[in-house]
Amino acid sequence: AVSLTKLYSGKVRDLYEIDDKTMLIIASDRLSAFDVILPQPIPQKGEILTQISNFWFGKLAHVLPNHFDGRSVFDVLPEHEARAVEKRAVVAKRLRPVKIEAVVRGYLAGSGWKEYRQHGTVCGIRLPDNLREAERLPEPVFTPSTKAEVGEHDENIDFERACAIVGTELAEQVRDKSLQLYRLAADHAATRGIIIADTKFEFGLDENGTLTLMDEVLTPDSSRFWLAGTYRPGTNPPSFDKQFVRDWLEQSGWNKQPPAPDVPQDVIDK
Ligand code: C5P
Repeated sequence: AVSLTKLYSGKVRDLYEIDDKTMLIIASDRLSAFDVILPQPIPQKGEILTQISNFWFGKLAHVLPNHFDGRSVFDVLPEHEARAVEKRAVVAKRLRPVKIEAVVRGYLAGSGWKEYRQHGTVCGIRLPDNLREAERLPEPVFTPSTKAEVGEHDENIDFERACAIVGTELAEQVRDKSLQLYRLAADHAATRGIIIADTKFEFGLDENGTLTLMDEVLTPDSSRFWLAGTYRPGTNPPSFDKQFVRDWLEQSGWNKQPPAPDVPQDVIDK
């Protein structure tokens, strides 16, 4: 813990107040999928995901501003506290969240595959017939979802509804930036033999209304990563992210259970 006032505990990250413009984000080792926080944290998860995220923030910084405030944890915490959290903490701008989840899919998996199988569409976008599970899409698609309130589930929505929620101009900006970020990241990952099947970005607006990339970027909590070498469309590929946790929760019925009793009371949905 750190000697700052806690603003908020998310399922995975805790936010602390620095001043009215900035906050400290600390990524915990908690593992969450659907609305469940697993009772067993994963040692160092928060550090590793923060480092992955920071790598992508840097790589994508030319596309749009991001949440970094420019200061380091050593500027805002006593040295012994900073040293304890430096790999998992980020000094970030406090932004007004854009109230949609900006999902981009290059391949058919998860809820994209489910909707396509039933309706031939994903978020209202008509796709070619006869695509198989995990198949590469002709081109990446922007498939937004709602940001669920506590106790509700994110719901895939079409672009019209995204416009109704955040306004057309902002929805278009979010869509265009998301597709650009996904393409850049997917191209980079491809040079390392990794497929980024899909991912979710979070955006906020700064005090001038400038669109800003925030939270976490292209981590195994927010993306599906497959190995290009063993990828075969039509089969559900091994996924180097938390897909196995979602599968386990669904198969065991745990995703329908109330939160585990050892989850702290103040851990609430984001
Ligand atoms: O489950 P679904 O297929 O809709 O997920 C699409 C992508 O968005 C996946 O990469 C998943 O990791 C990410 N996602 C997320 N947070 C959510 C829902 C989806 O990071 N609440």
